[in-house]
Amino acid sequence: MSLYPSSHVDESRLCSRIEAMARFGATEKGGVNRQALSAEDIQAQKEMIRWGRQLKLDASIDPAGNLFLRLKGADDSAEPVLSGSHLDSQPSGGKYDGAFGVLAAFEAVQAIQSAGIPLRRHIDIVAWMNEEGSRFAPGMAGSAAFAGSRTLDEIRQVVDAQGVSVGQALDTVMAELSELPIRPLGFPVSAYIEAHIEQGPVLERENMVIGVVTGIQGKKTYRVTVTGETAHAGTSCRAERRDALLASVAIIRALTTHMHDKEDVVKFTIGRLNIQPNAPSVVPGVAVFSIDLRHPDSKILSILGDAIPIICQAHADPCQVVVEELSSAASLVFTPSIRRCIAQAAQRLGLPQREINSAAGHDARYLNDVCATGMIFVPCHLGITHNEAESATPKDLADGARVLADVLAELAA
Ligand code: GLV
Ligand code: MN
Ligand code: MN
Repeated sequence: MSLYPSSHVDESRLCSRIEAMARFGATEKGGVNRQALSAEDIQAQKEMIRWGRQLKLDASIDPAGNLFLRLKGADDSAEPVLSGSHLDSQPSGGKYDGAFGVLAAFEAVQAIQSAGIPLRRHIDIVAWMNEEGSRFAPGMAGSAAFAGSRTLDEIRQVVDAQGVSVGQALDTVMAELSELPIRPLGFPVSAYIEAHIEQGPVLERENMVIGVVTGIQGKKTYRVTVTGETAHAGTSCRAERRDALLASVAIIRALTTHMHDKEDVVKFTIGRLNIQPNAPSVVPGVAVFSIDLRHPDSKILSILGDAIPIICQAHADPCQVVVEELSSAASLVFTPSIRRCIAQAAQRLGLPQREINSAAGHDARYLNDVCATGMIFVPCHLGITHNEAESATPKDLADGARVLADVLAELAA
């Protein structure tokens, strides 16, 4: 019997599960809109539980809505190995961001089972709650709660655009999945491995199959609220207007100029802008916009972040502005022994590999605070992601799952 389960990974089984999962929240253009804690998210979780039952995996959920499917090892007292990602998506998301990591872990577990590999540690497949932060900002909420970086109480207060709180939506999910045992939030873990599409163009461009992820670049997010006064579009004179949209435009222009770097390392995005009352004949009284700021150097990230409230204040006239920092995460480096283990597995399988830093955020960020952590990237076409056209080849996806299977078997041995 081989100690490596990779030969039991089944490409078509993995891909048909990815396609099946993509039906929950499927969009007309072939993408996915599966918001955290939505009806579609519940359907996706129920499907995972059903698949888990077929493999006799023990399903459970924690109070943050993180879903676990356990393949049992021999030693109940040994800390488990975790592997997974998230099932929620962006509004115009693809089939692979998140879902691949959960389903690669599922495929890896099935391969380990069918190879008959003896395990000392349990392996838990995990789907973290609200990674994307699209419905409820900021994201990575389930993994942050699990790792103790944010309290569940605080996360439960966050509301979506309709005023529904995480707490209310989570209670609905828990009621729908009430047959599952509830695990404590944040139990000890020996290691966490997350497989993910790269979400960038590097691996494909260089004909690499496996990215051994070195770490994740730092990220800060903000909510900026600009308050002016609503007025009649036909009768109010320019000198007296306090137009929250025009003040926001001035602020955004100044911020964009400040964040511009020749090398294109600073990543600065305003992905959401809402104005009130959002009516054609009313001068906007309130504008609220988001900021997503990223940089691989934590010191530079923090200097750029400190400039945001100053620039906002300097350009808000004649309105008022309030800047709230929603999340702040420094750049991080993954565990060297896990990176070695991933690199060795890829090498044994003869897969072209390279080290790569993650420009996107992942749940692995928070797990890295509490256990040995690493990530495996596979190529995605042209780096297109957070986009319905996101795509990856079945062979690359299966190779990612092969590496993951061997790594998990080794870590759980
Ligand atoms: C995760 O989806 C991110 O925005 O980095
Ligand atoms: Mn993701
Ligand atoms: Mn994403």
